Amino acid sequence: MDKIVIRGGRPLQGRIRVSGSKNASLPLMAACLLADGPSCLQNVPDVRDIRTMARMLEILGVKSERTDQALTLDPSGLASRPAPYELVSTMRASIYVLAPLLSRFGKAQVALPGGCAIGLRPIDQHLKGLEALGATVDLAHGYINAKAPHGLKGDEIYLDVASVGATVTILLAAVRAQGRTVLDHAACEPEIANLAEGLNAMGASISGAGSSRIVIEGVRNLRPATLTVIPDRIEAGTLALAGAMTSGEMIIENLPLAHLKALENKLRETGVALIPEGKQAFRVQRKEKKLTPVDIVTLPYPGFPTDLQAQWMALMCLAPGRSVITEAVWENRFMHVAELNRMGADIQIEGSNALVRGGNPLSGAQVMASDLRASAALILAGLVAEGETTVSRIYHLDRGYEHLEQKLSGLGADIQRVPE
Ligand code: UD1
Repeated sequence: MDKIVIRGGRPLQGRIRVSGSKNASLPLMAACLLADGPSCLQNVPDVRDIRTMARMLEILGVKSERTDQALTLDPSGLASRPAPYELVSTMRASIYVLAPLLSRFGKAQVALPGGCAIGLRPIDQHLKGLEALGATVDLAHGYINAKAPHGLKGDEIYLDVASVGATVTILLAAVRAQGRTVLDHAACEPEIANLAEGLNAMGASISGAGSSRIVIEGVRNLRPATLTVIPDRIEAGTLALAGAMTSGEMIIENLPLAHLKALENKLRETGVALIPEGKQAFRVQRKEKKLTPVDIVTLPYPGFPTDLQAQWMALMCLAPGRSVITEAVWENRFMHVAELNRMGADIQIEGSNALVRGGNPLSGAQVMASDLRASAALILAGLVAEGETTVSRIYHLDRGYEHLEQKLSGLGADIQRVPE
């Protein structure tokens, strides 16, 4: 298992290009199952979750081929086989195969994902959506068994929580259902809009994606297409926070700033500006030497992303004074706190709030990543800590960041991947 070793204290300077979004690629990969021939996804990051999803699709009979940033998926040999626990348990987004299998074969069997490090992660809203479209769903022996022998039928669905995953499942199920589906309280994330755009390019009829009300007119068949994945706003946000923490002058390319509105606003309050450079790039500029402590609450898009909470906490460790970080999306997403405290931070957890007393200098230490975004937060802390920081268990990082250490090193950081 590799480790990341960082010697802190260098400002990050220069231009960096954001990779394609993992969280947008995964649903688009599942969407490819809905057509008969090969579809091609452009701008797919080379990260472990994408390889896991490709392996899952392979088990179902889908051929995949990668060239640079393009991934071609050919579902000609697709069959409704069980999606096994060994894969679903490593990546919850594997559940995205449930709806396309159900839509194409009238039956699907996918292992229940279960919990994970950041919380319980229920799937009741996915199943509620499928049942509203006419499926019968049984849970037995750790598997979801969904059946719709007479096809799916459009209906009105209201989600109790604006779940990204449930919105994906319902879109994938409703596109080939008979009649109209209206989904209210849908997730508004840009990744959902990207999925709808891809499905429409395949012949679907979806309007309103990116808002909380999505209307889907069912179509009989979808055709293969070439689909382009949007850039990764979480990677861009992570890099912006790295720039803010190290007081460098950094330009982040290939991301519309509109996808980072919440972060942009909170950064402005703390004394860091994100300045647009054309439509697809922005500059990170720390205006003040001393950062102002600023509270955040994580919320569904366009609220502050939970996937940037840990990295924001690393920034707040540098702001002299007290700030409160409220995690309102996941119930157990503060595992980075103990590790940041090992680096000299002063953070206390009270329920879903983390109280940060910032301003103490961080010192390099051996720390352990507990999940994908926590690993990024520890690397950010390492960039400004005095001395050497070693982050282990970085297989979490490799799930979702494409060569982060190489990108940071290209910006001037002293960072290396070392085989353990
Ligand atoms: C996606 C992202 C993940 C991000 C999360 C929230 C992917 C692959 N992952 O995860 O990085 O942290 O959105 O932005 O895109 N919930 C229910 N019932 C359900 C489904 C969800 O109660 O059926 C709850 C969850 O417990 C959680 C909240 O809804 O509290 C948000 O979950 P959801 O939006 O579904 O997250 P994911 O799609 O799993």
